Amino acid sequence: MFSFPYDAVVFDLDGTLTCSDQGIIQSMRYALEQVNATIPAGVDLRAVIGPPLMQSLMGILGLEEAVARRAIGYYTEYFNRTGMYLYTVYPHIRSILTMLREGGVFVALATSKPVRPAMAILNHFGLTHYFHRIITEEDNEKVVNKPELIRRALPESYERAVMVGDRYFDVEGARANGIDSVGAGYGFGSEEELRTAGATHVVADTESLRAYLCPGAPVPRGFFLTVEGLDGSGKTTQVDRLEQSLRDYGFSVLRTREPGGCEISEEIRHTILTTDHMEMCPACEALLYAAARAQHVHEVIRPAVERGMLVLCDRFVDSSIAYQGGGRALGTDVVRTLNAPAVDGMMPDATLYLAIDHQLALERRHSATSLDRIEVESGAFHGRVQSAYEKLINDDKKRFLVVNGEQDVDTVAADVLDAVLSRLEPELEGC
Ligand code: TMP
Repeated sequence: MFSFPYDAVVFDLDGTLTCSDQGIIQSMRYALEQVNATIPAGVDLRAVIGPPLMQSLMGILGLEEAVARRAIGYYTEYFNRTGMYLYTVYPHIRSILTMLREGGVFVALATSKPVRPAMAILNHFGLTHYFHRIITEEDNEKVVNKPELIRRALPESYERAVMVGDRYFDVEGARANGIDSVGAGYGFGSEEELRTAGATHVVADTESLRAYLCPGAPVPRGFFLTVEGLDGSGKTTQVDRLEQSLRDYGFSVLRTREPGGCEISEEIRHTILTTDHMEMCPACEALLYAAARAQHVHEVIRPAVERGMLVLCDRFVDSSIAYQGGGRALGTDVVRTLNAPAVDGMMPDATLYLAIDHQLALERRHSATSLDRIEVESGAFHGRVQSAYEKLINDDKKRFLVVNGEQDVDTVAADVLDAVLSRLEPELEGC
């Protein structure tokens, strides 16, 4: 059994949980432009990340109070419209929050952000539900100091508490409350700033933060997400977009594909797909796909899910059932049976299907430069593949997330992200 070194952990937001530089800096640039203010020589705009806005505008940028007030209006307008969406969540943060919560640790947030933008960000990224308590500034600019915010965030009783933050005032705030502090050296203050301020410990990255706050605790199981669709459904473009969005949400994504994903399986991929082997019989084809899958599951997919990764796999066993079972008419049951030792119980937690009619998919494929041995198959073949997919979906509605792939690329990408997030973070629904 392991135990957590702290029974209460208070996190700062910007630069600790979320990487906010682009969102804040662009909003600040916009606000300064609107009030015709210039950035004083020698001032790095990153310095405005962390302190309350009024303090940054007057103290760091030297604005008069009335001008600063107007700038806050412009800043807020731009931030709500654009800036907030430029945020990303640092990797491993979700797993740290989950591990602490599941370990019975009190988890709180203390940020100098006013309540509305703070809650908008937490809700946007589906982070709200991790916290027992969230303390922010009020929206009326009256500034509460960091020690007081931290004091309010702490539980009524605790044995050992720690504040995690990326700036010296987080460290000083912790000290004022008589608790430890961890300096998030990956944020916006330098490691030197944090050490000089007297941080109990400084971490260079979020992996080290996890090791410090949750030493020896098992990392929660990850998630296995597969993407399926006909050739020409726009799958690769959508997997690219989805991968980037999930990373921005702070998921630790391992992107892979089938057939392939590791050395042996990539070699098998070449053997299967080359048009040099037009004589390959359906059984050989089905067994080669299964062989590639066996190695891929063993070497890549299972270990990554066990390490807590979100495995995003372009095609999996459903492709074999649809293409070899349906397209090649080997039969669904035969294909399922010969894949059993390859899958070895590692079924996807969710499968995204890009729905597109095989005739439209065929038209889209015609514009592609080179086609592989499966893509050159007849329209009737792909029609059978489509029917087999539709039957699979009908039989397992809980696992499949179906998105209309016939819409324009951006609409499909937005629908895909919504569908996937609703499964990964049910709290995000409706945000
Ligand atoms: P890709 O073009 O999506 O990388 O997939 C390669 C081709 O292999 C595609 O035409 C679908 C086909 N395929 C099968 O027939 N059975 C399978 O099990 C897999 C994974 C792919």
